[in-house]
Amino acid sequence: MSKRNLVVVGTQWGDEGKGKIVDLLTDRVAAVVRFQGGHNAGHTLVIDGKKTVLHLIPSGILREHVECFIGNGVVLAPDALKKEVEQLELTGLSVKSRLKISEACPLILDYHVALDQARERARGDLAIGTTGRGIGPAYEDKVARRGLRAGDLKNLPKMKNILAETVDYHNFMLQNYYKVEPISFEAVWEKCQAYADLIVPMLADVPSLIDGYNREGKSLLFEGAQGTLLDIDHGTYPYVTSSNTTAGGATSGAGIGPCQLDYVLGITKAYATRVGGGPFPTELVYSVAEDSGDAIGKQLGERGREFGATTGRQRRCGWFDAVALRRSAQVNGLTGMCLTKLDVMDELVEIKVCTAYEYQGKTINFPPASADEYDLCQPVYETLPGWQSSTVGIECWDDLPEQAKAYIHYLEKQVGVPVSILSTGPDRAETLILQDVFA
Ligand code: GDP
Ligand code: IMO
Ligand code: MG
Repeated sequence: MSKRNLVVVGTQWGDEGKGKIVDLLTDRVAAVVRFQGGHNAGHTLVIDGKKTVLHLIPSGILREHVECFIGNGVVLAPDALKKEVEQLELTGLSVKSRLKISEACPLILDYHVALDQARERARGDLAIGTTGRGIGPAYEDKVARRGLRAGDLKNLPKMKNILAETVDYHNFMLQNYYKVEPISFEAVWEKCQAYADLIVPMLADVPSLIDGYNREGKSLLFEGAQGTLLDIDHGTYPYVTSSNTTAGGATSGAGIGPCQLDYVLGITKAYATRVGGGPFPTELVYSVAEDSGDAIGKQLGERGREFGATTGRQRRCGWFDAVALRRSAQVNGLTGMCLTKLDVMDELVEIKVCTAYEYQGKTINFPPASADEYDLCQPVYETLPGWQSSTVGIECWDDLPEQAKAYIHYLEKQVGVPVSILSTGPDRAETLILQDVFA
């Protein structure tokens, strides 16, 4: 096995099954690195039927020989980190000894959460549908150069002064613009000593750790969160998250040069889902709460168990959108795709694939830049026959029904990227490797 640095990204609107695949591939690497996002992510791992949901800690943590790094591009919520570390350690795993955190990670503190929620309320019908966890406001503080970072926990007296000013600054907005309760400086400050006790021992120079492994000829895996259509630049703006979810984010968000990345694996659901607001041209609208809407939307949601791993919200479901995927292939420079949840489509008689959009009387093959324009796009569909037999747990290509093989080849052709891994169930074992991504 040669050394390879692999980037794993979501190619749609998140929840494609990144966690499962990162865990699967982790037995081949020395460390797994998160490079963006925060605890808005919910990555589900199922091993021999046992489910673990990770939000902030890299999906390599269940393999004891692997180290886990949280890169500078990740926004770090100390309360969430504490909870996740404790839950994992209760199961007998060693976490603190294997987890290394960049000093440059922006901290998510109480006022970020308050601002996120106040803004969402103020947007009313135009709400983004954020996870309400303070992700956006924490990134704003970073870019505005007023944010507190994990490394600031090393010098609490200095941090106290900056915190006082920052709380004051944000309280002005909370009280005067959003007309909500201010945040108590004392309440935030009181928790900082405990945050320091937890986080300071795990602080590390992540770029040097990465460089060290590279020099030793060891492989690393860079774990993306969210998905390409939620990217702050390339997604359905403004209905996006606040980070670069695309492969380039791995370089700036972890501290590695672009030429050192060898393979970009795009995790792609065999259909499409989205949680939160924003355009979704191929959506098959169905509401669980009202039990009304599209029957296939309902079927995909039920068979796929499409409820958010972080917020529990119903995920909107729809047909595969090859237009969106072409953009993903471009902006990530996808080397290969991992197609997940094929088994969810087992019962469908016919399957539609969106191959183009109709936009203002024209046929377009790539998505527009903003949500407003997206809203004017109508999907153009091609219909394929379903396979109507079980693919659950199939681990060999020859065992797949012919129509399923044809569907996979059709998607490869539409997107222009080969499928290198196929997932046929949530369990680590329910996977079919078509091409060795480390070869
Ligand atoms: P992530 O955010 O990309 O890591 O994905 P999530 O964990 O939020 O959502 C993916 C869901 O699909 C989880 O419940 C997984 O256990 C499940 N899953 C992953 N791959 C498959 C698959 O091939 N088939 C089925 N039926 N479920 C899968
Ligand atoms: P994983 O890593 C799906 C969505 C939210 C909302 C938008 C902005 O599990 O795929 P934020 O709280 O980030 O400001 O919300 O992004 N979102 C996700 N959707 N999977 C995720 O992560 C998501 N993380 C954020 O629903 O629409
Ligand atoms: Mg998820």
